[in-house]
Amino acid sequence: MPDRLDLPAGFRWGAATAAYQIEGAVDEDGRGPSIWDTFAARPGAVRDGHTGAVACDHYHRYPEDIELMKGLGLDDYRFSIAWPRVLPADTGEVNDAGLAFYDRLVDALLAAGITPLPTLFHWDLPQALEDAGGWLNRDTAHRFADYTALVADRLGDRVPAWITLNEPFVHMVYGYALGIHAPGRALMLDALPVAHHQLLAHGLASALLHERGLEVMIANNLTPVQAASSSDADLAAADAYDTLHNRLFTDPLLLGRYPDLSAFGTGPDLHGAVRPGDLDLIAATPLTGLGVNYYNPTRIAAPTDPGLPFDFVEIPDAPRTAFGWPIVPDGLRELLVGLRDRYGTALPPVTVTENGCSTTEGLDDPTRVFYLATHLDALATAVAEGVDVRGYCTWSLLDNFEWAEGYHQRFGLVHVDFETQQRTPRASYAWYRDLIAAHRARH
Ligand code: NOJ
Repeated sequence: MPDRLDLPAGFRWGAATAAYQIEGAVDEDGRGPSIWDTFAARPGAVRDGHTGAVACDHYHRYPEDIELMKGLGLDDYRFSIAWPRVLPADTGEVNDAGLAFYDRLVDALLAAGITPLPTLFHWDLPQALEDAGGWLNRDTAHRFADYTALVADRLGDRVPAWITLNEPFVHMVYGYALGIHAPGRALMLDALPVAHHQLLAHGLASALLHERGLEVMIANNLTPVQAASSSDADLAAADAYDTLHNRLFTDPLLLGRYPDLSAFGTGPDLHGAVRPGDLDLIAATPLTGLGVNYYNPTRIAAPTDPGLPFDFVEIPDAPRTAFGWPIVPDGLRELLVGLRDRYGTALPPVTVTENGCSTTEGLDDPTRVFYLATHLDALATAVAEGVDVRGYCTWSLLDNFEWAEGYHQRFGLVHVDFETQQRTPRASYAWYRDLIAAHRARH
């Protein structure tokens, strides 16, 4: 592990969170229900029946949390805006109290010298929109555009860069194909229109952000895909998985077309969802930056059962996080270099918008320090190999509601006692603070 990181001057340091995972206050100030409130209330949906009803109570404790960010010396704070706070019902009526919360948050961040980096959709769709079909309904893309315009008009004078969607792949697969996240639909490959409607939403929203002089990003979770062997069958399976996980959500944005999805039983119209002109619209506003969430690589073998054209296999010999995810730091270098090789000049500057690990360690968390240090080293190697990476947000500032795992997976630089809401910085917090300070001192 290097004791100094060779990253360019102006490299931006951040930490990330998301609304439903930290805010709590789900019934306050006119917030409407989201699909996660509904899903978490369903028996058995979330481990031990946990919900985000209180979470980190960030809605009330954000000043204290901003002090923690300030202590780290962050350039950027990546958070998400809860759509159901802004537009709680199906009526289109704006909830000013919801917008006012983000006004306060943005102002307090700026006063602390931190640039707000909001994500507009981090999985908490208003329940009213789900009742009308959610992301299976094309109209949701237009609703997202209306919501984007509203929020950008309110905050765009102080917020320069925006992330439209967080991990549209995970939202489609976990939420609509497998049903292990909200809204809990298990449609398997019939969920594919959810990909297109999210990308359409991104395209419509990007144009509106661009018109307002704002920068546009998306946060895609990407994974380098390894084939289990060099057999033709394993290589074909790995290629199919790469198409679904990585290319489906990135090719339309950077190349203006869908990859070949024939292995998934559909042509380029994604079960009829794609209409003429959609792809032009999706690619029309160039991304100012590509956000990449990276946690681990994926190893794929030929399928043993018919159904899907791939099987997941374990990555051999890798240490694991508390979640059981393999720790493979070089996967981040491989991913970044692979993006540059695949997209060439079409690739905009990259920001790593999430990277981190859950541990069962307490305040002393050497595994997290090891994870972050080795991944930042891999990032620096990618930069040395010529990839334009501008910033890094670790996931996460605080322990928080980890979706179907409830509060069981702890990702925070800061430990949260969910009984008392006491925040306590871990060793990784001090490590990250010192790393940021050392980087600044060198430039
Ligand atoms: C991806 C998601 O964006 C975030 O919400 C989640 O908590 C982390 N990764 C860890 O699973």
